Amino acid sequence: MFLDSGSLIHVILPSNFQWYTCRPNKGIQYLSSIICCREKTLDALLEPIRSFLQCETPDQWVDEAVKKENLSVILLDHLVCELKAAQSAMFLIRRYAVDKESSEALLAWLKPFEDFTYRMQGDWRELSKHNTLSKSMLPKSGTPYGQDLIDKMVLLIKEELHHFFQVLEIMDEYGIPYENISSSRYARGMLTHVKNHEPDALIDKLICGAYIEARSCERFAKLAPHVDKRLGDFYVSLLRSEARHYQDYLSLAEEIAGRDITERIAYFGKIEADLISSPDEDFKFHSGVPAFIATIKL
Ligand SMILES: [Fe+2]
Ligand SMILES: [Fe+2]
Repeated sequence: MFLDSGSLIHVILPSNFQWYTCRPNKGIQYLSSIICCREKTLDALLEPIRSFLQCETPDQWVDEAVKKENLSVILLDHLVCELKAAQSAMFLIRRYAVDKESSEALLAWLKPFEDFTYRMQGDWRELSKHNTLSKSMLPKSGTPYGQDLIDKMVLLIKEELHHFFQVLEIMDEYGIPYENISSSRYARGMLTHVKNHEPDALIDKLICGAYIEARSCERFAKLAPHVDKRLGDFYVSLLRSEARHYQDYLSLAEEIAGRDITERIAYFGKIEADLISSPDEDFKFHSGVPAFIATIKL
């Protein structure tokens, strides 16, 4: 916070990088009300997510996740989750919405990120130059929801790739080298229940996408108060986009279904909650209750 010659107080709140301005004669009151306001805003952001999810992240997972020795696994898995979020969104556009030429442009967009992650090729610093799509996406004829799917998913991919790069920056700052990491049971555990006929398969995948985004958002909010400021600010900065992603997936699912899908949402909500609240041998960003703690408590 600083005073400028124009008698205004400027406050920068690093977690969402927005500028706020107020008069100095009421500065302190304004400042505290601004901070309260931001807390309320975050609470307002998280409230629908918490009611959408059928269980809260267990404290045992949070206790494990904030241990210094687990920082590398949390960041590495988070990194790969960002890429997977981009890949899943890209799969949906390629499978359901775009023509062949657009599909190839999409693949080319992701390739440097996949080369780095799966083949350990390239310098991560160069990846920030690749966060652009080389052509505009054309919807396949005959897909009524094609343009909406493209618009929402292209924006989502851009944001996920930006998050991917931000996690690499943080890993660099913390001296954590990139290495391959196996995936957790979480996404697979939900996707295995997706129906195998259309359009129900697409609707189910979108519902799963909504749960993955919502859970990520809830976990960032859980972790933020327990980690250092740099990491906590980063997690809070992710909340807004992940909250929007969850809503985008859900509204697309509802739009494409054209009918009430409350029951199907609740069905996946139960599967998701079981994955989060049951013992899990593998500790990852989306894992369940750390198994050795679950054993001790039994
Ligand atoms: Fe993300
Ligand atoms: Fe996301």
